[in-house]
Amino acid sequence: MESFTYKNPTVIHFGKGCIEELGNELIKFGKHTLLVYGKGSVKKNGIYDKVTYELNATNINFTEYSGIKPNPIVEDVENIIEICIRKKIDSLLALGGGSVIDTVKVASLCIKENLDPWKVVMRISKPTQSIPVICILTLAATGTEMNAAAVVQNHKTREKIGFVNPLSYPKHSFLDPEFTYSVPKNYTAYGIVDLIAHALEAWFADGDSTLADRFIASIIKEAIELSPKVLVEPANYEYRAKIMLAATCALNGTTSLGRKYSGDWGVHDIGHTLSYLYDTPHGASLSIAYPAWLKLHKERIPERIKKLGKCLFETTSINQTIKDLENFFKSIESPIRLNDINIREDKHKEISELMNKNGVNGLVQKLTENDHIELVKYMS
Ligand code: NZQ
Ligand code: ZN
Repeated sequence: MESFTYKNPTVIHFGKGCIEELGNELIKFGKHTLLVYGKGSVKKNGIYDKVTYELNATNINFTEYSGIKPNPIVEDVENIIEICIRKKIDSLLALGGGSVIDTVKVASLCIKENLDPWKVVMRISKPTQSIPVICILTLAATGTEMNAAAVVQNHKTREKIGFVNPLSYPKHSFLDPEFTYSVPKNYTAYGIVDLIAHALEAWFADGDSTLADRFIASIIKEAIELSPKVLVEPANYEYRAKIMLAATCALNGTTSLGRKYSGDWGVHDIGHTLSYLYDTPHGASLSIAYPAWLKLHKERIPERIKKLGKCLFETTSINQTIKDLENFFKSIESPIRLNDINIREDKHKEISELMNKNGVNGLVQKLTENDHIELVKYMS
């Protein structure tokens, strides 16, 4: 087992009505917050009204910034930084899924020292301070509500990049499973794929931690068991709550205790290439990339894949393990091939070329230029 230092400072408020604690927590960081949300789902489903009611009830002044798109862009981060500096905002209140929260997390690192966000993402600028981030999660998927990571894309450099900075841990995250009732079927499924993919990334990190292996297997089994139920009954509190907890635990550090890295992250890097090029939803990119990555690695790390198959699907056959995983993704209607998202052969070269240009790689399992080409073949 690897040695480690572990601290997760985010306070989680979990359960029906937890939003009632928002005002009392938020006011501790100052009276003026910037409320950031996406393209309008929170207005349709009534969550916006519930949140603004709490802000008004505790006399918190709020300015709004909306329109964050899935696969968020650095321009929105820049706009938020400018508003926060100009209006002397005390805290950032992210209301949404991973895209909103990540946008806010990157901005939080740049406001105090007026830093260029892309330089922060690229680790060229090193922030020494951040402004407080508070999250109200509306989609169970990324785990960003309880970690220090953020992912944004930049059309100028043709990249979608994830990075980690401990200053970006949310101070508080409010997780009310009822807030996820209105998540459409496709995004519910993509969220499930994403949480499973996070657990799998940790499975393939270096370091012998059998307890981490058991955490991972439990999280994935929980998700596999609950998926058909939550997709049929999206407004079932218990199902939504269980998926929400699984998603948070899949990327809050628990699954990588005793490992060298939090994960391999090669599959995420491949997925980010698809999301950058075709605006593919994050989870959908992963259900295409994971089977391909496993096929590429089946002779490189056979024992690890066999153990995974044994834990999840009671098989020691590598091919059967990959098939079972693919069949699960298919069963929840997440795509498993490029064709499923209408990406035809004429695009294959641009995918492998961008992977190569951006140095798509894993932390543990290294990918060569030829691997990029092979991966596209496996995804086809
Ligand atoms: O924009 P609105 O109208 O709000 O609609 C959103 C969006 O269209 C909708 N939605 C969210 N909550 C809803 C809802 N619709 C109805 N009811 C609700 N309650 O869902 C759509 C997708 O939202 P998004 O935030 O993009 O989804 P997700 O939470 O999956 O976040 C994906 C982003 O997070 C990054 C991904 O790369 C991607 O950019 N990730 C962040 C990570 C992290 N920071 O730790 C780790 C992940 O691996 C991932 O890379
Ligand atoms: Zn992910």
